[in-house]
Amino acid sequence: MNKSGLSISLCLAAALLSACALAEPITIKFAHVVTDSTPKGQGARLFKELVEQRLGDQVRVEVYANSSLYGDADEMEALRENRVQLLAPSLAKFETYTPQLQVFDLPFLFDDLAAVDRFQRRAKGRQLLQSMADHNIVGLAYWHNGMKQLSAIRALRTPQDARDLNFRIQHSAVLEAQFQQLGAKTSKLPFSSVYTALKSGQVQGAENPWSNIYSQKFHEVQPYIIETNHGVLDYMLVSNSRFWYSIPHHIRVELEGIIDEVTYAVNQQAAELNIGYRQKIQHSGYSQVLQLSSAERQAWREAMEPVWRHFETQIGTDIIKAARAANR
Ligand code: LMR
Repeated sequence: MNKSGLSISLCLAAALLSACALAEPITIKFAHVVTDSTPKGQGARLFKELVEQRLGDQVRVEVYANSSLYGDADEMEALRENRVQLLAPSLAKFETYTPQLQVFDLPFLFDDLAAVDRFQRRAKGRQLLQSMADHNIVGLAYWHNGMKQLSAIRALRTPQDARDLNFRIQHSAVLEAQFQQLGAKTSKLPFSSVYTALKSGQVQGAENPWSNIYSQKFHEVQPYIIETNHGVLDYMLVSNSRFWYSIPHHIRVELEGIIDEVTYAVNQQAAELNIGYRQKIQHSGYSQVLQLSSAERQAWREAMEPVWRHFETQIGTDIIKAARAANR
């Protein structure tokens, strides 16, 4: 190599070295709408902690809990525009992007959280992680919260007791239809306004797992919580596909490994956390937890199940069939 060739190479090497030294870590903003003490909140914190330990100089994670950065109304647009890089919305909140995930909203489809878990791990469930690819959204994992319970200003023993009450629901046509089956009204409200809406009487009932009810203090403004376990509230951890696949391969592989670990931890602990919150609610003195006999629960099932028929074609009979098969 001649003298000028050598000096060009040296310059290039020096430029590369300084560029590396100056390279900013990749920032991942992770926004969600619940408190740190819930399964999702804990998952987000653990993700941040493990990334700091293992990739601290290359990736920085900022967690924004409790709708402090984005809420239900704007988080998906923010993700698609790469203003936030990780979200874990409830599976009920993706209907704009795919009808298939509505399978998770069908009432009484899953017997329990173990059945939900089996479905999510099997082929059809895994395929649904990619169901929003055309919208620049990639599903990275399913995280559990738990089975939903009804709460209301009345002791709802029978489906008829819900008639004419206005229930807050997530943004889901299936959930709207579920309450219509009962002759009840619905209001689609963002999670951050539910407490105020319940307290003011704008709505008189809602549905959520124990951890959300307790951590948002819904039990303080709902005298009755009815243990129906009628549906599931789980999450999909999602990112912006273009952002995610632009992460250098070796870092992305490490991040995906961390996500697997966090997913395992969240899904192991979710049921236990919810049992703990159920007890706290029972001992709080605010609301009464009503248990249903199997005949009473069967009446709720019969009242709500006709909803399936309306959504069968939209969701896909193959998906519903696979979900049902996970009960065994
Ligand atoms: C709700 O809106 O009720 C839930 O999806 C909130 C959450 O993220 O758990």
